[in-house]
Amino acid sequence: MATQRICFAQVSDVHLMPETGCRCWWMSDSPRHQLEAAVAHLNQVPDLHFVVFTGDLVDQADPQSFELFQEILAQLRVPYYLSLGNHDIDTLGREGRFNREQFIRWCQRQFPLPLAPTGYVDYSLSPLPGIRLIALDASLGQFPLPQGVLRPSQLHWLGEHLQAVPEEWLILLIHQPPFISPTHMDAVLFRKYRLRSEQAAALHTLLADHGRVVAVLSGHLHVPRVYVQDGIPYLTAPPLVGPVSALRVFELDVNPRRGILRYHWVHLPEPGPRPLWHGLVMGVRRDRWGQIPLRAKGARSLPAVAQ
Ligand SMILES: [Fe+2]
Ligand SMILES: [Fe+2]
Repeated sequence: MATQRICFAQVSDVHLMPETGCRCWWMSDSPRHQLEAAVAHLNQVPDLHFVVFTGDLVDQADPQSFELFQEILAQLRVPYYLSLGNHDIDTLGREGRFNREQFIRWCQRQFPLPLAPTGYVDYSLSPLPGIRLIALDASLGQFPLPQGVLRPSQLHWLGEHLQAVPEEWLILLIHQPPFISPTHMDAVLFRKYRLRSEQAAALHTLLADHGRVVAVLSGHLHVPRVYVQDGIPYLTAPPLVGPVSALRVFELDVNPRRGILRYHWVHLPEPGPRPLWHGLVMGVRRDRWGQIPLRAKGARSLPAVAQ
């Protein structure tokens, strides 16, 4: 049974601003510099197939920052795909900020965007044979409210769509994490940031029914987390803009029955001292590197993928 090797990267929470000097003291002083450094690094990663950005591409949903983002990403040598974060749109009609429609048009200038008929920034495409990339829009739109929400129409579309691609391994992008970790502290700290629990449970059921999930990739917390529930990996990314600036690189070996997902983070140090509490937001070791076995539904008795 042929094994396919895929290399991809996740960058999250760039919070790009046109000028240097961020609104939060714990953010990088120059998100632009961090994004340029990320692109330069990614261009050196051997056999990289594509890059995904999991939201908060810019900080204030302003057109100037989106233009700058596109200008910097023009230097990236591989395809990239974007998903929406709560800092990327404002649906209250305030001047100088993208709404959903403007965000969609901007994305369409950079890659084909096969939108779902949900009214949100949900889409599905296949970046490589056998691999399905789906992005879900869980942002409220009332800039910058952090709570994650999935509407019934989105869950309904996802359920139907997954039935149409039963053989493909799924990478799901959703800015607000459905699950973070089993710790009580995370539950308390991030209650208003994650996806609402009943919607996370409904999403999890759909993914478990599909049975071939590489990873659910999120951002938003600015703290890396890796959590596996019922064999489905939920990975929340380190942020590019800080407090600890990093991105993740993945290596996936997969065949129709099984796979293994290896991940490591790449720290992109910033100039100047950072506060001591950065150590607290680096996560534990498994949040920074590790590997997760993947198994298609009903594949228990088959041999593992060669490592
Ligand atoms: Fe963010
Ligand atoms: Fe966010």
